[in-house]
Amino acid sequence: MKAALPKIVRRINALRTQVAAWRASGETVALVPTMGALHDGHLALVEEVQKRAGRVVVSIFVNPAQFGPNEDLARYPRDERGDTAKLARLGTDLVYAPSPAEIYPTGFASKVLVNGPAKAGLEDKYRPDHFAGVATVVAKLLIQCQPDIAIFGEKDYQQLMVIRRMAIDLDLPVRIVGGATRREKDGLAMSSRNIYLAASERATAPLLNAALHEAGGRIAEGGDPAKAAAAARRALTRAGFRVDYVAARNADTLAALTAPREEPIRLLAAAWLGRTRLIDNIAVKKASRKKAGA
Ligand code: PAF
Repeated sequence: MKAALPKIVRRINALRTQVAAWRASGETVALVPTMGALHDGHLALVEEVQKRAGRVVVSIFVNPAQFGPNEDLARYPRDERGDTAKLARLGTDLVYAPSPAEIYPTGFASKVLVNGPAKAGLEDKYRPDHFAGVATVVAKLLIQCQPDIAIFGEKDYQQLMVIRRMAIDLDLPVRIVGGATRREKDGLAMSSRNIYLAASERATAPLLNAALHEAGGRIAEGGDPAKAAAAARRALTRAGFRVDYVAARNADTLAALTAPREEPIRLLAAAWLGRTRLIDNIAVKKASRKKAGA
């Protein structure tokens, strides 16, 4: 039997009316912000918040403000019909799919400026206006929906840290939750952009995650994080990637490491295969670092 399609609203007022009605009857509300082209990683985020809230809203909005002038805004995959069918199978309560004019009406002239993790010299170094665009749209979505919980994938780890910081700094009454990265069987992190990969690039792509694990293992055994990251960079370059960065950072602040033996470490990388830019990250396991006598 075909699952009933979720209700789709495109206007802020309709979203607010529905969320207010749920709240009035004592229900908790979760928001899953997305840019659509939903894959199993997104669906896992929906399933995760379904455990934590009575009602789940999924927003679908390809946010022009977070794309640079030479980035893939025009070709970014869009499939609202396919997305709503997938969400129907999960029993999603509401899809919020505003138009660009609803989010950025004529005369729109404001921006949320983010520092701290947004200026860590990772994604921000290569995509200078990206996090201002993300923060602005996420702040708007949170204010429009007023959820109790919002979830963001750990795949975009720097984004998750930026949003956490922003929600704290702006006193937004929402709990920001991180969802584990979903991977293909060969380790490639799921991403809407993976469809850009040619067959030969797709075969090479899992090496990004493999290189992070190799470096993470070295650090866990007491190796120098900077040297491990540099070795990962060399391995990726040899495999045909054009590497933007491989970096070991403090997992909470994304600042450069000052005391690698004590700090929680996150290894993050971004690299190109042809015209496709891939990002990935992993936690360096603390227990094994201790076990190694670090
Ligand atoms: O991660 C994404 O898909 C986007 O950056 C987000 C959080 C939906 C904001 O547009």
